[in-house]
Amino acid sequence: MLDAAAYVPGKSPDTGPGAPGPTPVIKLSSNERNLPPSAAALDAATVAAETANRYPDNRSDRLRRALAGELGVGIDNLAVGCGSSGLLQQIVQAFVEPGVSVVYPWRSFELYPILVGLAGGSAITVPLVEHGFDTAAIVAAVEDSTALVLLANPNNPTGTLLEKAELEHLVESLPDDVIAVVDAAYHEYTGQGEEMLVTLVSDHPNVIVTRTFSKAHGLAGMRVGWALASEELIGYLHTTQLPFTVNSVAQAAAEAALADSSSLDRHVAECVSERERVSASLSDLGWNAVESRANFVWIDTPGATDLAVELERRGVIIRPFAGEGIRVTIGSPEENDAFLSAVSELVPQTGT
Ligand SMILES: Cc1ncc(COP(=O)(O)O)c(C=O)c1O
Repeated sequence: MLDAAAYVPGKSPDTGPGAPGPTPVIKLSSNERNLPPSAAALDAATVAAETANRYPDNRSDRLRRALAGELGVGIDNLAVGCGSSGLLQQIVQAFVEPGVSVVYPWRSFELYPILVGLAGGSAITVPLVEHGFDTAAIVAAVEDSTALVLLANPNNPTGTLLEKAELEHLVESLPDDVIAVVDAAYHEYTGQGEEMLVTLVSDHPNVIVTRTFSKAHGLAGMRVGWALASEELIGYLHTTQLPFTVNSVAQAAAEAALADSSSLDRHVAECVSERERVSASLSDLGWNAVESRANFVWIDTPGATDLAVELERRGVIIRPFAGEGIRVTIGSPEENDAFLSAVSELVPQTGT
């Protein structure tokens, strides 16, 4: 029988009968976009729903063609999956089995240990240094048994980023038969541009980049992501793809969201400026806010669990990591103000 822990999502408001205390109204716990999907995406989803009696396009060819055009790559360099989580699972399933190891920095995205465990592989974790990746230690941790290195860039939950040269150096330092998975779920917020990841993949046959429509495109509930890699590596992802894994409504919404760059650009610009404002305010208040390149901010604090309770009492739900820190999603300016007002009533604790 399987002995594994299930993924625990960010907390949602408890609005059911008997909910304790004042109902929390502001959810900053799952790094979602605060704005709803664009009107174009909603229209496309509605139209697609009319033919939902039919199975979807198994390989999401229309969406892959649109992505290929946008990125200037071939359609066979792309796989579409049920969120980037689905693609990460396809990757791990393709390359990991008992006796195989996977290296990743820790703390990082909580799905990684789960996926490695489900595949029967073993995890080799590399401690963060000043909340970021220790690239030399990551390379040094690779063993003969290692098939994959998982790199959330920016890292979740700390928000730190490896710049292009650092990422290239890391990838080039790995043995040729080790695949670097660059999990770029928050790439739109980094300011690094699309070209950087396309070049990383075209120059390095051992790299798979995963991306998502869940964050900056505002389609977390639709579940669509994509992977970019060599034709050979994408072939493995097709092999481990469940039939019809991305539904037709999600495919259509994602294609429309991709075409609507103005909605994306507006959101990203606001989110980045709010991120800087929130970070600066937190520092002014005495909290240890780590510089972030994503749509959230990490506060290094040993009192994370108590802080989460206090914030929730004040109507704000964030994501605590016991004894380490809290991760706060950047919301609308009003939501961020509410968070800052709540946190300003509490006494900062630093120094984990
Ligand atoms: C680093 C990272 N990768 C991947 C994902 C998964 O996103 P999705 O499956 O919605 O594409 C998340 C979600 O929070 C994340 O933080």
